Amino acid sequence: MEQDFSKVEQAALAALHAIDAEAGLRAWQAAWLGKRSAVALALAGLGQLPAAERPLAGQRANALRLQLEQAHAAHAAALRESGLAASLQAGALDVTLPGRPAARGRLHIATQTLRQICAIWAQMGFQIYRSRDVETEACNFELLNIPPHHPARDMWDTFHTTIVETEACNFELLNIPPHHPARDMWDTFHTTTSGSLLRTHTSPGQIHAMREYAPEPIRVVLPGMCYRYEQITPRSEIQFNQVEGLAVGRGIRFTDLKGTLTDFARRMFGAQTRTRFRASYFPFTEPSAEMDVECFLCGGSGCVVCKQAGWLEILGCGMVHPKVLQNGGYDPAEYTGFAFGMGPERIAMLKYGIKDIRYFWGNDLRFLQQF
Ligand code: DAH
Repeated sequence: MEQDFSKVEQAALAALHAIDAEAGLRAWQAAWLGKRSAVALALAGLGQLPAAERPLAGQRANALRLQLEQAHAAHAAALRESGLAASLQAGALDVTLPGRPAARGRLHIATQTLRQICAIWAQMGFQIYRSRDVETEACNFELLNIPPHHPARDMWDTFHTTIVETEACNFELLNIPPHHPARDMWDTFHTTTSGSLLRTHTSPGQIHAMREYAPEPIRVVLPGMCYRYEQITPRSEIQFNQVEGLAVGRGIRFTDLKGTLTDFARRMFGAQTRTRFRASYFPFTEPSAEMDVECFLCGGSGCVVCKQAGWLEILGCGMVHPKVLQNGGYDPAEYTGFAFGMGPERIAMLKYGIKDIRYFWGNDLRFLQQF
């Protein structure tokens, strides 16, 4: 018996050491350690041996199996190493080459700009106030001093919605019938409010913020997505972000508005930035203005981006209309405030010379990777 094991051992090791490529190793393993190998058969046949011989034979077969496994592992490691050495020598592997960089994700340019704007306002002591995308007709219009049929409504073409997602798509069609216990997993805001719509601007957030904080003083910015039922063109999208701002308190004046917004512009576009205010009209502010910054591309001398004007329009603003203060729960005889609204996409377009707003939703990596 011992002789048989020795023969197997010698033959197996000789075959192993003759192997010079990794492919041969698998065949060797099948032949010498697989189910039909001599060692496996010897182990399987132990039961047929006379009882006195079994322990010794078992020990010997197990020892041989272990020995062959270790020899296999050692030979495999040696082959790998010599292969590496050979390819290093042949120059096939150049360890001085830089590694392949892992592709890095990034924030969308609109999000980056939105966050930069909010971070500046936060440094200036404004709280971030989150407000909802689905609004009532009242908050989006009436309470902002825009009655039905007012001509100013033309500024905001509106997506009216009594349905944001249907019950069917959110539940039934996903195999969650009514009264199924799984519904407990998703507590639902039902929006059947008649006259609900997708906010056309972030200004309705002013009403929510005021109603939450009145009569305390307020300094908030409200970032978020807005929606307009419009033709999509290089200059207008149906979805875009706005950052709204609102300050309410005693003794807030137009000079506070000018100073605060100019300070923002300098933090955003550079310490030397000049601003100018032009009279404008918004129903929810009186007086109203638009703020321009001196063109940061040409420094005011005139270029294609500022259309030779030397100035870029950045935001709308004004003193909160007394009716709006009242709608928010503040007595306009005691309190005043200023408000403003700007579009991060528009600011990014000016800053980076982006000619077409449709790139923002185009999902073209060649565009997105530039930022
Ligand atoms: N809501 C305006 C718009 O969508 C922007 C705006 C203008 C907001 C003036 C304001 C403001 O708060 O005072 O065009």
